[in-house]
Amino acid sequence: DWTMASYREDAIAKIREQVGDKKVICALSGGVDSSVAAILIHEAIGAQLTCVFVDHGLLRLNEAQEVVKMFREAYNLPLIHADESDLFLGALEGVSDPEVKRKTIGKLFIDVFDKHAKAIGGAEFLAQGTLYPDVIESVSFAGGPSVTIKSHHNVGGLPEKMGMKLVEPLRELFKDEVRALGRELGLPEHFIRRHPFPGPGLAIRCPGEITREKLDILRHADAVYIDQIRKHGLYDEIWQAFAAILPMRTVGVMGDGRTYDFAVGLRAVTSVDGMTADYYPFTHEFMGETVTRIINEVKGVNRVFYDCTSKPPGTIELE
Ligand code: XMP
Repeated sequence: DWTMASYREDAIAKIREQVGDKKVICALSGGVDSSVAAILIHEAIGAQLTCVFVDHGLLRLNEAQEVVKMFREAYNLPLIHADESDLFLGALEGVSDPEVKRKTIGKLFIDVFDKHAKAIGGAEFLAQGTLYPDVIESVSFAGGPSVTIKSHHNVGGLPEKMGMKLVEPLRELFKDEVRALGRELGLPEHFIRRHPFPGPGLAIRCPGEITREKLDILRHADAVYIDQIRKHGLYDEIWQAFAAILPMRTVGVMGDGRTYDFAVGLRAVTSVDGMTADYYPFTHEFMGETVTRIINEVKGVNRVFYDCTSKPPGTIELE
């Protein structure tokens, strides 16, 4: 792709010019955005870059191990694996307000990065895989009053608080353009096609209070759901699919007994850039099979809902 080839050259030149001989620390989440940003910056400045993968205890099943392994072994990126799940989950205990959750997670991210930036002898720059839609959704509605829809933790305020300057090589790009750039940089197709995953992770898929029990249930339900989607060959047709755990228990029957377990919500949407979205119309057969699998395979779940809300008026995530 000639467009992305020249974007890559320009971006590398800009990064070199901005950063000079200073150190850069990069928040690697394992998502396409931060991965593309990290690889691009690594190409530009090599060993001046250190990546930090923050495990906030809100990742999907086996995600931390897979991401760390891939970047260390296949990409040879300098990578710190910061296991901070106790810190984050401790701070989130008893918190149910969505904005407080996001702000709590955002603040701890700053603390963790600050700690690692100091540990590597001081980084002057912070790299982020911020995309264009992140920038505009966090700022305001065009022509309207300045209203923050959601405080995306990866946008705004971070560098000022940390006394660091931002490197954001993807700030002008939409998601499909980041994927094209990822291909240009040689990332494997299965990785480029991974659905987006939000920085606050499972926190915003667990409305209400977050507990380790709920996170475990959510991880397993999500893994079964995604497995179903892959088995039916639907993964690439869908922009984003995930399970959520709802803040309620409901009554059910299993064998001779009454159950009183959690309800899981399933979400799947099609979208071009995440700004608007339609719910994905699964077949009844797929739905029936998936619900049966989740209830049989995931202990603690006795009911499954499918979210048919488009965006707008809904958002893609639940919080
Ligand atoms: P919403 O829920 O706002 O999500 O319709 C739009 C897209 O953005 C992702 N998202 C986030 N990504 N940090 C991120 O990096 C965040 O705080 C965040 N919140 C939502 C969401 O997964 C979807 O792809």
